[in-house]
Amino acid sequence: MGKNNPLVIVTRKLPEPVEARMRELFDARFNETDKPMTHAELAEAIGAADVLVPTVTDRIDAPLIAKAGEQLKLIANFGNGVDNIDVTSALRRGITVTNTPGVLTEDTADMTMGLIVAVSRRIVEGAGAALDGSWRGWSPTWMLGRRITGKKLGIVGMGRIGQALARRAKAFGLSIHYHNRRRVSASIEQELSATYFESLDQMLMRMDIVSVNCPHTPATFHLLSARRLKHLHSGAIVVNTARGEIIDENALTRMLEANELAGAGLDVFEHEPAVSPKLLKLAQGGKVTLLPHMGSATLEGRIDMGEKVIINVKTFMDGHRPPDRVLPSML
Ligand code: 8YV
Repeated sequence: MGKNNPLVIVTRKLPEPVEARMRELFDARFNETDKPMTHAELAEAIGAADVLVPTVTDRIDAPLIAKAGEQLKLIANFGNGVDNIDVTSALRRGITVTNTPGVLTEDTADMTMGLIVAVSRRIVEGAGAALDGSWRGWSPTWMLGRRITGKKLGIVGMGRIGQALARRAKAFGLSIHYHNRRRVSASIEQELSATYFESLDQMLMRMDIVSVNCPHTPATFHLLSARRLKHLHSGAIVVNTARGEIIDENALTRMLEANELAGAGLDVFEHEPAVSPKLLKLAQGGKVTLLPHMGSATLEGRIDMGEKVIINVKTFMDGHRPPDRVLPSML
């Protein structure tokens, strides 16, 4: 781009070592308050920056991209999912988009397994009873959950995170089933003892636990629709650490309220950060476990994500193809 020090605008506060390195390498502008930027602030940023570093909380839609200055050539997302960015509009304007795949796989898979255990074994409910004094002593029939070993897990989306979850789940004694756009290689299937279902409907009819691990794209919006959720049996649980939009949240909530499902563990929501009062009520009753989008929230993970952003920006600025380019085929 002919400039040594590109103006890199970062929309949220990043871990200190990441900001320090960015300061050394770029003319970096940070968000000291960490308050999500308003649309007007984002418009100002995209108009001025050579590189914009947004996060999941920033909607980089077509009207905003239309306000990008001529000099903006790279949107380096701090995050794996890019559903916050209208990538097609960006590419059409000649703006490269990158993300941070790979470095949050293990952390997100840990949290997914954690939710499976938490919901099945009523961990949050039990911790609440220990804390609020309602525990009156051990009882053979109190706080009974559901055994994990021997149950069937259906993974929707067998990418990096799906596979990392399968590895963990296998160690917990779950049998692994998956649905994916493409069947994974025979060697991966063998390693994970995973059974492929070309038909998501067919898989759902047979599962005890379903975990959503695919990206949110136009093709996966409400993939777990009201009709598909009905395939699950009433003892099944649903876990989502991917994106809220992949499940019809109203339909899921209705089924939980009607005891047509045993429980749910949700780290993501359709209208984040809003969580519907009905889901909150179900959580208070112990039927669902809710987390505030913290699947990848480890210090190490966030530093690694920052490192990826830096490598993408630096490589791009040096005139090379950045390692984590988002391509139309990925959408
Ligand atoms: C990130 C995520 O924290 O990377 C993703 O896709 O969902 C989260 O783990 C977030 O996106 C950061 O922008």
